Parts: sequence; structure tokens; C-alpha cells
Amino acid sequence: MAKLQKSVVLLKPDALQRGLVGEIITRFEKKGLKLMGLKMMNLTDELLDDWYAHHKEKPFFGDLKKFMMSAPIIAMLWEGLEAVSTVRKLCGVTKGYEAEGGSIRGDFSISGQLNIIHASDSIETALKEEGLIFDKDEVFDYDKGEYLWVYSVEERD
Ligand code: CMP
Repeated sequence: MAKLQKSVVLLKPDALQRGLVGEIITRFEKKGLKLMGLKMMNLTDELLDDWYAHHKEKPFFGDLKKFMMSAPIIAMLWEGLEAVSTVRKLCGVTKGYEAEGGSIRGDFSISGQLNIIHASDSIETALKEEGLIFDKDEVFDYDKGEYLWVYSVEERD
């Protein structure tokens, strides 16, 4: 496959509380992405320090961690062609009130912090995030028959 990538997605506590989990998973499935891992979990202070290390100095860091620990999250690993940028486009820009209609944040969020979803911002970050969330036996590779109708022959090879 040409540029097959993986992206880690977190459905944040607001997505779970607002009953948006199924709707969001459906969007990724319909796009043609392949689900390789899925788990519900409580994030810890320690994991979030690592996850959001680049936000450590931001004034909202403490509140962000509290929000992310306020209810369980749903973590997912999605694979596809250019998956990192593809998934981020489906999510929309960070702040719900700026995100375009049609994107997940644009349709379901009007907040800067309660923005429903997280998606890896690079291939390197995706690898780090996969390691932080998923054990090796929680990642599943399998043939997806649908690929015949999702990708061209060139893209599949
Ligand atoms: P995300 O981009 O997934 O990762 C960092 C998160 O920090 C972001 O989503 C928001 O949930 C949160 N965030 C970003 N900017 C702000 C802000 N200005 N105030 C509060 N929370 C923010």
C-alpha cells in the first residue's frame, strides 16, 4: 500500500457523555479507514503528563488534564492512506467554534477545550501514542475485503 499510516484517536469524555461515540465511529468507517484497535479506559495523571507534554507550560494544562480524567475515553487506532492528515480533516480544527461544518468538531462542538476528539498530529506522534495506549496484543491486523472498493490497485499494492 502506497502511504499506509496509523492514527490514534481519542473520543474525549464529552463525546462519551453526549452519546456521540457511535456517530463518530461511523464517520471513520464510512470514510474507508480500517479499525485496528479499540478500548475504553480512564486516563491517568501520569499518562496525560506524557501525552500533553508539549502543553505543560500552557495556562489551561491543569484544567485540560482534569477534563480528560472526568470520565472514561474511547481510544482507537485507525489505518489508511495518509491516515494522519485524513483523520485530522475529519476532526476539523482544534476549537469547535472555529471548525468547519461537516467536520466532527464543527458539527458537535462549540468549545475550545471540550472539542470531542483527539487525533495524532504526525506519524511520529501516532507511534508514540499507540505505544502509550495499546499493548501489542490489543492491535489487530487483518485483511479488509472492503479495500477492493476503497482503494485503486496502485494504492493497494
Ligand atoms: P487537542 O488538540 O486534541 O489537544 C490539546 C487540547 O487542549 C485541545 O485538543 C483542547 O482540548 C485543549 N485546548 C487547546 N487550546 C485550549 C485553550 N486555549 N483553552 C483550553 N483548552 C484548550
